[in-house]
Amino acid sequence: MEQLLKQIEDYKKEIESMTPGDAASLEAYRIKFLGTKGIVKSLFAEIKNVQNEMKKEIGQVLNDFKQFAESKYEYWKAATGASQPSAINKFDPSLPGDPLPSGTRHPISLVSNQIVHIFGRLGFSVAEGPEIEDDWHNFTPLNLPADHPARDMQDTFYIHKNPDWLLRTHTSSVQARVMEKQKPPIRIICPGRVYRNETISARAHCFFHQTEGLYVDEKVSFADLKQTLYFFVREMFGQDAKIRFRPSYFPFTEPSAEMDINCRICGGSGCNVCKHTGWVEILGSGMVHPKMLENFGIDSNKYTGFAFGMGIERICQLKYRINDLRLYSQNDLRFLKQFIAAV
Ligand code: DAH
Repeated sequence: MEQLLKQIEDYKKEIESMTPGDAASLEAYRIKFLGTKGIVKSLFAEIKNVQNEMKKEIGQVLNDFKQFAESKYEYWKAATGASQPSAINKFDPSLPGDPLPSGTRHPISLVSNQIVHIFGRLGFSVAEGPEIEDDWHNFTPLNLPADHPARDMQDTFYIHKNPDWLLRTHTSSVQARVMEKQKPPIRIICPGRVYRNETISARAHCFFHQTEGLYVDEKVSFADLKQTLYFFVREMFGQDAKIRFRPSYFPFTEPSAEMDINCRICGGSGCNVCKHTGWVEILGSGMVHPKMLENFGIDSNKYTGFAFGMGIERICQLKYRINDLRLYSQNDLRFLKQFIAAV
């Protein structure tokens, strides 16, 4: 027993004299005293050689020693941990930094921004409206009353709780939002997301993007519409781009026209995108229907206007040769990383 107590005293002194300042010497200390084959364990193993009546007392002494050895370990561990920031102080600021990968813009945003930029140079300012729209703004003043057959042109997502509300099917709703507040001259461009109840495929999606344009003022003519869109197309696709207008029907314009450009993919020789015609439709347009102006209290004898609406995905397809609409919303970085801003 005496021998054991003397041993413990010596170990205590040994520990007191130690200052393991780094992780390696601390680990050496742990193995020596607290490890599975360490001193504390071997001292406990000695208990069996002590007389029975002394066992309790020696057990107490050994427990105290064990706690002492452990608390020293914890203390040093915390101290070496705390000293780690000094390593950070050794950080050399003159070393080259780790490069931060920068993000890229989504192709839809790039093209949308470019459209806004081009029309901005012609004096058009951006107007926006809600994506959850009421039935009235989406249809009624655009000459699409509740029972109008043209409503069938768009498969609409209605809001279950209140069928007066829907996900807007086109950005033409922003025309209504602006004309109810603003009097001519109006010159706006309205980019945004629209929704239609379509089965998702490479060529159709339940959401996509449009840009609407509206110009209402005195003496606005179809020639203005043509020249404005021609300017846009050449800025967007290059000075060699050609356009052609085909008569069409939209309830909110009279006359109405669809506009094609010469295919940017095959250059006119014929491909899948232009269905071997050499021409691709990019937008619908026309002179704002006088009734639509009157719906907003705008004197249709004094004012005329033109409007157009284009699908941004289609412009992207022609500009970047993206032939599957699903790519835009799959968030695949390999796809998204490829686009660089033009403006
Ligand atoms: N709103 C039409 C659509 O979604 C596109 C459109 C056609 C807009 C003619 C216009 C326009 O402003 O004048 O299909």
